[in-house]
Amino acid sequence: MLISMKNNHFKSEGEKLGMMYFRVAIVLFGAQLLMGLIAAIQFLYPGFLFEVFDFSVARMVHINALVVWLLYAMLGSVYLMLTDETGIEVVGIALGKLAFWVLTAAVTVVVLVYIFIQIGSGSETTIWLINEGREYIEAPRWADIGIVVVVLIFYYNVFATYMKGRKTGIMTVMVANLLALAGLYLAGMFFTDNISVDQYWWWWVIHLWVEATWEVFVGTLAAYALIKLIDAKREIVEMWLWIEVLMLFGSGILGLGHHYFWIGTPEYWWEIGALFSALEPVPLVAMFVHVIYDWGKEQGAHGDKPVIKNGPAMAWITVNAFGNFLGAGIWGFFHTLPQVNIYTHGTQFTAAHGHLAFFGAYASVLIGMMYIGIQKAYGIERLKATFNSKMAIFLITFGVIGMTVALTIAGYEQVLVERAELGGGWDAYFTAQNLPWMLQAQAWRLIMGVVTFIGFIYLVIDLLTIGKKQAQNQ
Ligand code: HEM
Ligand code: HEM
Ligand SMILES: [Fe+2]
Repeated sequence: MLISMKNNHFKSEGEKLGMMYFRVAIVLFGAQLLMGLIAAIQFLYPGFLFEVFDFSVARMVHINALVVWLLYAMLGSVYLMLTDETGIEVVGIALGKLAFWVLTAAVTVVVLVYIFIQIGSGSETTIWLINEGREYIEAPRWADIGIVVVVLIFYYNVFATYMKGRKTGIMTVMVANLLALAGLYLAGMFFTDNISVDQYWWWWVIHLWVEATWEVFVGTLAAYALIKLIDAKREIVEMWLWIEVLMLFGSGILGLGHHYFWIGTPEYWWEIGALFSALEPVPLVAMFVHVIYDWGKEQGAHGDKPVIKNGPAMAWITVNAFGNFLGAGIWGFFHTLPQVNIYTHGTQFTAAHGHLAFFGAYASVLIGMMYIGIQKAYGIERLKATFNSKMAIFLITFGVIGMTVALTIAGYEQVLVERAELGGGWDAYFTAQNLPWMLQAQAWRLIMGVVTFIGFIYLVIDLLTIGKKQAQNQ
């Protein structure tokens, strides 16, 4: 991954820039996991790092780093595939590189400010300089505006390259979808002092990202990757991509209603949210079936010689197919009806779903794209999984599933004791937090978090060494 920027096999400057984005993404992924471990320890030992590194800060950096590394890896993936798909060099590459450095400098400053200024009252100044206070997208306003500028440059690069080069179906979906994805960020930027109104718009970013535009985005990545990895037929994957676009937007946009149940919006959202969000797993099942079907079919076409051109990438994309289906589809569906959500809302059950969905739908496929980047960098015909690749994928996936199971049990206990038996409220919350089922579940989450982190170390070692080793053997 640390391949020299001079001696490499990249076919374009865009691919190089993609690799630069991947490097920062992996560093932020590591930071995310460390923050998660701190927060998980604090669940068991509330005094741990109290007033040195508070839970509120560890949790905030954990989930903001998550969103930012995924976005970095997304930008990296787009730059990585742009030349392949359009047949030409990225149009404004110098500007693109400048934007990368500006963004990275801004992210560094924002994180340092989060860490050094942990508490204090909120005011107009803190919104501009320290923290906007919107879960997942907490960047202060100066950084918000900077992000918009950087994203405009990125979008210009993608759009202009697309207009000048070949126009594949994958790129058409990509260009249209990125416009929506970037535009939605604006909904989380303006300030209102009414919490219901604020939440109403804030969900446009979070929900319409993860359940609409990001899903379509990873659909385009999977389509591209399947063509690269197993020679899937373009017409077939593109046809599926269009069907997915239709279904995802069809259910995802009004599925937004499942976040409007209890924030003060009108009651008609109960029916709208229930119906459309219940339909959301349908495209995920379709996507799942399509990836597995395509894989089987293309492998069959090659007779008894299975040809996977990049073992680790294919493995991660398979984790994505299952993970998206389970984390978003199944764990999402569990609590999406208002009749159920009234009990599960905001419990550890939500956290269980959040972990498996973000990992299964996004982290996994983006790690797969990093392996495709490495294959390109070293010009390797067939990249094979190493011992480290296998340990990484096994430990990370096992760890995240373990955390999900533990949190599901914790959520179940909250539903039964805190909500159903004790009727919710302050005392009910603390009673449920201190029962053995909760404490044991939190202990298991911490253990499984450590397993995930060990897997991450294997991943880093693998990303750093796999290319060099296999390029020498060629
Ligand atoms: C990859 C896609 C998805 C991701 C990454 C994701 C992630 C998340 C996260 C992180 C939350 C917690 C938000 C918070 O902090 O309040 C959440 C909430 C929720 N998600 Fe998803 N989700 C996805 C797809 C779905 C799907 C397909 C459904 C339904 C079928 C669903 C149903 C819900 C519901 C009902 C809540 C609210 C939980 C509550 O009331 O506490 N999600 N999701
Ligand atoms: C070392 C492994 C990890 C540990 C120990 C860990 C721990 C935690 C903790 C303690 C929280 C706060 C939960 C709360 O407020 O109740 C949290 C939240 C969250 N984490 Fe992790 N985490 C880890 C890895 C991950 C990974 C790999 C992902 C996704 C790819 C992820 C996504 C999230 C999300 C989306 C939330 C917010 C959930 C919500 O608001 O419902 N975490 N994590
Ligand atoms: Fe949602």
